[in-house]
Amino acid sequence: MALQATATHAAVAIVFLLMQLELPGRSKPVSPDPYRCVSDDPLVDCCPPPVPKKNIVNFKLESKSSPLRVRRPAHALTLEEARKYERATALMRALPDDHPWNFLTQANVHCAYCSGGYYQQGQEMTLEIHNSWHFFTWHRAYLYFYERILGKLINDTSFALPFWNWDHPSGMTIPPIYRRPSSSLFNPTRYPTALKFINLGDCEGNNTPESIPKQKQCNLQAMHRQFIAGFNSSLLFFGSPYRAADQPYPGGGPIESSPHGPIHISTSADMEYMDTAARDPIFFAHHGNIDRLWTIWERISMNKSRVFKDKDFLDASFLFWDENMQFVRIFVRDIMDTRKLGYVYEEVPLPWMKIKTLVEKEGRQSKSAGKDEGHGKSRVTFPLKLQSDVRVNVRRRVGKEGEKLVVSDIELDGRDYVWFKVYIGRVGGGRVEAGCFVHLERRAKERIHMVTKLQIGITQFIEEVGADGDDWVVVTLVPVVAGDKVIVGGVMIV
Ligand code: C2O
Repeated sequence: MALQATATHAAVAIVFLLMQLELPGRSKPVSPDPYRCVSDDPLVDCCPPPVPKKNIVNFKLESKSSPLRVRRPAHALTLEEARKYERATALMRALPDDHPWNFLTQANVHCAYCSGGYYQQGQEMTLEIHNSWHFFTWHRAYLYFYERILGKLINDTSFALPFWNWDHPSGMTIPPIYRRPSSSLFNPTRYPTALKFINLGDCEGNNTPESIPKQKQCNLQAMHRQFIAGFNSSLLFFGSPYRAADQPYPGGGPIESSPHGPIHISTSADMEYMDTAARDPIFFAHHGNIDRLWTIWERISMNKSRVFKDKDFLDASFLFWDENMQFVRIFVRDIMDTRKLGYVYEEVPLPWMKIKTLVEKEGRQSKSAGKDEGHGKSRVTFPLKLQSDVRVNVRRRVGKEGEKLVVSDIELDGRDYVWFKVYIGRVGGGRVEAGCFVHLERRAKERIHMVTKLQIGITQFIEEVGADGDDWVVVTLVPVVAGDKVIVGGVMIV
């Protein structure tokens, strides 16, 4: 007996010790604490009223019997589909302010999961769903419940949100259904330029009939590039791991920077800020398309590295009001397959998939301020402020995910809007744009000290510039917006 008791004590002590040491094996998925939410925003209070504990239930996948919901491109909706969506949104707007389905209350859910907002369960820090591997997952869950609620309001279980097909030339403006000022889908803070052209990645121009086709082509290039940059592995595509107690902003995937960021910025004043973004109904179409890109990425190749087995990723959970007026906890493992959630995206052409990357000639490179310093002996010293172009030679290395470029320790005030581009070039040869870092501004009373990184899969870009046989490549960082507000810690290939 005594021996047994000692053994039990020892086992308990070991488990306790392991917990203290946080040795690998102890799972650490993030989840929000519904009873601790602080709004850090001087203008918006995004914290929802607390919900009694007994009313929180785990999400259950629905039975097969309900009709498959087909999400269609917003610019191609039939009149009937558009009216339905308008009516559902109008009903949502008409609900009392304190109703969990109320339009503004729903918009605030997005706000509650960024900079400030919910604390992490059991941790002394808040939960941030942007700039990490939960960017795609959280937004998928959010849209899922939003769609179900709209369907409930109009008593139509087949109701599907439209997606903003901005990766196709016919979707590269604000779709017509969002434009009528008397419509529930209208938002008065939209920018007039967005009615002519929506920018996916540094493709702004003067929006004349002559320049728009070129700008659209540039958008397709951006789409192609950002997709390729995240092609080789799940971690590249989704973004960096983010576990309980981790600092926020470990780094988002390429698509989160662009097209995601520029579209927020060029759509409307509400869309520009994370805390008000979901007050523009077009937010849900924008994120529908982001979500659709996830499904496309998944389908394109059966590459094993895309199967995501990390338990901290799959066991992360979020809280939402559902269409039955229940406050539910949904786990990431429940949302990995859209069919199981009851919806799919209509198949439409992907004009960006097969296009060729533009290789800039050597001549254009000489415009950059930095100097080519010869192999390895670069005179550039990190960390540095990104006030002008920075050009460094970087030694190549092939890791598990192919060749991956890391721009590390990017430091900024999370309230600032920052944008810089990254080029990969051949030493003494041409270069291609390989990706960019775009951070959207936020409102907060105090400085948000943010340290993050940018990772780009560069295998294909290296081939495109013809540097496959070389030991070194030239990496150029080009500030687009507020370079002087960002510090870069280093550039390497891993
Ligand atoms: Cu949660 Cu497009 O941002």
